[in-house]
Amino acid sequence: MTVRRDFKEPARCRPDLVIGRDELFTSAHEQLARGGSVLLHGPAGIGKSTVLRALAADYGDAARTVLRCSATESESHLPFLALADLFGLVLDEVADKLPSAQRTALESALTGRGESTLQRDGLALRLAVLSALRALAAAKPVLLVADDMQWLDSASAELLGFAARRLGDTPVQLLCAVRTEGQEYDRHLRASPPDTLAVRLNPLSPAQVSTLLDHRGYTDLPRSTVREIHRTSGGNPLFALELGRALGENPTP
Ligand SMILES: Nc1ncnc2c1ncn2[C@@H]1O[C@H](COP(=O)(O)OP(=O)(O)O)[C@@H](O)[C@H]1O
Ligand SMILES: [Mg+2]
Repeated sequence: MTVRRDFKEPARCRPDLVIGRDELFTSAHEQLARGGSVLLHGPAGIGKSTVLRALAADYGDAARTVLRCSATESESHLPFLALADLFGLVLDEVADKLPSAQRTALESALTGRGESTLQRDGLALRLAVLSALRALAAAKPVLLVADDMQWLDSASAELLGFAARRLGDTPVQLLCAVRTEGQEYDRHLRASPPDTLAVRLNPLSPAQVSTLLDHRGYTDLPRSTVREIHRTSGGNPLFALELGRALGENPTP
């Protein structure tokens, strides 16, 4: 088991310590290096965002244009929000490379000023997202990092899916995470580029849970308690940390 730190993160972000996940990092790096996309999936708290951030920090260097969005449940009803997060900062760069009908549709969708809807501007908007990605990728390869895809607003999900299925050899890679309890990631996989690698995050081992608790300062827990935390949490790091905190504050025999 290795303990890994991402020194490439900007100094203002506290680097994530990532325990284990060696095999996942190896296969995801291989997939990204060959130009493919990666979809991480698994239940809440299993470590998807942690791994996503680490991969994005490793792979999203200055040689790429990195577009990011992170959806939230409370905002998932707002049409085009994820698209605005992804393209808001680069819209000026690409706007004049789009045919005018696409440009108008995209600008009104992203600024919320016009009356754009998927029904009204359907084709123009879909083509605009595809054109915008192609225009960006003509300058530099694009890495699109999207967390919590289960909460993506449905308009953005539809537009991204449309583009992803048609990008072909255009150098645009998706690095995404989605919360799932079972096989629902299928739906997201179908809206990803055809060669996407889907990886389910497995629970941490007892030794990894013990390292996690140590690292977060729960060093005084008896070994039997650590074993119990692993068993009760099912190896889910978020639950293990919650239990560690509760038991650290309130030790019970
Ligand atoms: N492999 C790991 N190593 C260290 N800490 C982890 C690991 N995986 C998850 N965590 C921690 O567990 C918590 C939940 O992880 P997170 O990435 O937010 O899960 P998810 O995005 O799947 O809901 C966070 O506090 C995170 O720092
Ligand atoms: Mg997350």
